[in-house]
Amino acid sequence: DEGLHPPSHPWPHSGPMSTYDHASIRRGYQVYREVCSACHSLDRIAWRNLIGVSHSEAEVKAMAEEVEYEDGPDDNGDMFMRPGKPSDYMPRPYANEEQARAGNAGALPPDLSLITKARHGGEDYVFALLTGYMDPPGGVEVREGLNYNPYFPGGAIAMARVLFDELVEYEDGTPATTSQMAKDVCTFLAWAAEPEHDDRKKMGMKATIILSGLTLLSIWLKRFKWAPIK
Ligand code: HEM
Repeated sequence: DEGLHPPSHPWPHSGPMSTYDHASIRRGYQVYREVCSACHSLDRIAWRNLIGVSHSEAEVKAMAEEVEYEDGPDDNGDMFMRPGKPSDYMPRPYANEEQARAGNAGALPPDLSLITKARHGGEDYVFALLTGYMDPPGGVEVREGLNYNPYFPGGAIAMARVLFDELVEYEDGTPATTSQMAKDVCTFLAWAAEPEHDDRKKMGMKATIILSGLTLLSIWLKRFKWAPIK
């Protein structure tokens, strides 16, 4: 069973020239931090990656400092705890897989760093998954501890519905509806999977402009050179 095909949405970042909606990345980070990070790691993202993308350097420093990291060994060979720095990576919710499974009735919450690349359907799939929880249709039995979601392959997922209207409070005043939070966290996760995406599109545009210019120049030069011979 493949799971229901997710509807495709016009993500602001999906056009050939369009870049991420950075206000949405910022809100999506908040959703990740306040909701998803209780169970999911985001191993490939360091605090510093947020600088200039969703937060200022001062904000990122302050956010990192709120988390304690183990460091060491010090001169005595001891490990010690210290406040986070922008170069530290996002903290993990569990120490290891065993602990993660124990906290989730045997299921493993996957790392979300590359989830929009790893799952067929990308951010459309994750959006559909987050907003697609419903009662199982008549005749469908869902095992104790699992939840019915038609977008999840097999239809029964260990993760319960996590997004409910007004769960977070956005500082920019955006109403935190379930679908708004899902959209924002998917935008954040799409960015996390491809942080170089905006630069790549800008570079592509520059390359296109420069190469078009050079092509025109070479056509003009060829004509100019061959003109006396013809
Ligand atoms: C699985 C996203 C919050 C526990 C997943 C998957 C995604 C996801 C994309 C993978 C589904 C697949 O394999 O195709 C999110 C997002 C969250 C969130 C974006 C926040 C908005 C949570 C929370 C918990 C949790 C708070 C724990 C209370 C799990 C578990 C799985 C899972 C246990 C594995 C499910 C299974 O394989 O049956 N989540 N999640 N998630 N999530 Fe979450």
